[in-house]
Order: sequence, then C-alpha cells, then structure tokens
Amino acid sequence: MSQLLSGTDPQAIATAAALLRAGEVVAFPTETVYGLGADALKERAVAQVFAIKNRPHFDPLIVHVSDQDTVALYATDIDERAVALMTHFWPGPLTLVLRKRSNLPDLVTAGLDTVAIRVPAHPVALALLRAAQIPIAAPSANPFGYVSPTTALHVQELLGHAVPLILDGGPCTVGVESTVCALTEKQAVILRPGGVAVEAIEAVIGPVAFASPSQADARSPGTLLSHYAPHVRLRLLVPGEPIPCPAEGARIGLLLFKPHPHVVGYAVTEVLSQDGNLTEAAAHLFAALRRLDAAGLDAVLVEPVLEQGLGRAIMDRLRRATAR
Ligand code: TXA
Ligand code: MG
Repeated sequence: MSQLLSGTDPQAIATAAALLRAGEVVAFPTETVYGLGADALKERAVAQVFAIKNRPHFDPLIVHVSDQDTVALYATDIDERAVALMTHFWPGPLTLVLRKRSNLPDLVTAGLDTVAIRVPAHPVALALLRAAQIPIAAPSANPFGYVSPTTALHVQELLGHAVPLILDGGPCTVGVESTVCALTEKQAVILRPGGVAVEAIEAVIGPVAFASPSQADARSPGTLLSHYAPHVRLRLLVPGEPIPCPAEGARIGLLLFKPHPHVVGYAVTEVLSQDGNLTEAAAHLFAALRRLDAAGLDAVLVEPVLEQGLGRAIMDRLRRATAR
C-alpha cells in the first residue's frame, strides 16, 4: 500500500523528489486532477507509469515543468502565440503541444515529433518540480479509461497498490484536466477542452480550430471517444429535455448541473453546483461520477450544461463517459 503524505510538509516534498530522481513513480496533486509522475528523461520510469495505468503506448504523456524558461530545453519553434499563451495562462490548466527536442524519450511522446507541456498551478506540484529539478511526465493518476482522481483518496483507491507515495494536496480546485492546444501548425487546434476556456485562449491568439473527437485522431491519441468512463451506464439528456420520472422499481441516479426542487423518484441525486456555476460544477464533476458509480445503480441520467467556458470541458467529459 502506498504512503499518503501531506504535500504541505517540506519533508514529504523532499522524499517525493528523491523517489522521482531515483526513477520511481509518485502521485501528486495538480490544480486539475491528480497526476502519476515520473522523471520524463528516464525511459524506465516512464514505462512504469504506462504499466501502472495500463495505458497503451500510443497515448503520449504531458511533461510538467516548473517555469516557462524550462520549456526551451524540451521543445523548439516556440513562437509568439506560445509565448503569449504561456504568459497569460501559466502556471495553470493549459497544455501546449510544440515540436519536441530529441532529448525526450520517444516513449513520453509516443513516438510523435511533438511534446505536450505545461506548468501546473498547484503549489504542491510546483514545490515538487522545483525540489526534483527534473521534468515530470504525468498522466492523470487513474487506470486508463476511468474517471480521473480529484482527491488523494481517489488515487489511493485506484492505484494505492502500485504507487509507493501519494502526496496529498487536498481536492483539486479546477477538477477537469487541462486544455490541450496544439501550436505545431499555423492554425492553433484545441485537442481537448479543459480548465482554460477556449474563449479565453481566443482572446489572446485569435480563432482556434477544434479536433473532432474520434477513435483515432493521430494528433492526440488520448482523445479516444470512450474515456473518463464510470462503470455505470450514463444517459445524457438532450438540452431542454425535461427531467423524466424514473420507472418504478429501477434504481436510477441523477446528475444535475443545478438544483431542480420538484424532481422525485431517483435513488441518488448529485448536484454539481447550487447556483448553476460552471467553475464549481467542473470542480465537483469527477467526484460526483465516482459516487454515482459506487451507488449500485441501474443507470444514471445526466443533465447537460451550456457549452461555453468550462461547460465545454464538462460536456466533453460527459459525452466520452456516455459513449460506450
Ligand atoms: O490536467 C492535466 O492535463 C492532467 C494533469 C495531471 O496535468 N494530465 C492529464 O494527462 O490529463 P493525460 O495523460 O490523462 O492526458 C494527456 C492528453 C491525452 O489526451 C494525450 O493524448 C494528449 O494529452 N497528448 C499528450 N502528448 C501529446 C502530443 N505530443 N500531441 C498531442 N496530444 C498529446
Ligand atoms: Mg487521463
């Protein structure tokens, strides 16, 4: 079983940094979700991350670094758009896909000639990056295809048997993964909506394009359609569709964006935000899905949210969770 240490304890940070430098895997908090980290320059350590997650090797990892200046060690062709986005949104939930340098092992980038890189905003993640003085390759700390963890306890439940150390940094404040934006071509492309709203990115670099979520988008192999999926069957209501009454005898759960006082008959109801706030809803999304998954339900109905700001990331995750 893994050790669970408080990320605010400098001794715990030192222990975690030493483990990473020795080629071990450590789980740590970021502002988006918990990550499963390894030294990005050590192929063997990175291989362990893939093994623990049961992640296919065609799905590349995000490299986390402590500051903007470090990016040039691992990426090239850092243009004005990249600098503008880094300056605006880092540290924070934005991942940039740039041309990679050859010092990064191919395993990290799944053989692509690009690297996904970000500076996380969580103080524990930053303290760890500074103490370890290495780039940390880290996917979300969940088994491949399952809901991402937003607390240290989630990580312990999912991967506690396989990870020597989990740093606890409390519940993640953003709650959905980073926005992944590719800058390798003239047209910036959003590969995954996430914690930074697309509208905010467009305000800095102008209009962006979207990659369609497909089973095999070569630009971002991780954006598989069926992803982030709990085990229970989910059905996403159509926008505007009234919330139906569940059939008698069925144990149906309900995942609501905001409270609906007159809805009855559901075995379990989860409300993402008391006042219909998208930021709050994103922060609560994965924990709510996890509780619904554990409730022994026949199915879960899901209220859609407005597709703007963080609503895009929420709907992206909900669609993937229902696509099975
Ligand atoms: O918020 C986050 O991004 C979290 C925390 C831990 O930082 N990490 C995370 O990692 O969500 P992961 O591995 O679950 O998702 C990384 C996504 C995948 O969709 C992957 O395909 C994409 O980023 N990606 C990584 N490298 C890429 C590359 N070189 N080109 C295109 N997409 C890439
Ligand atoms: Mg993931």
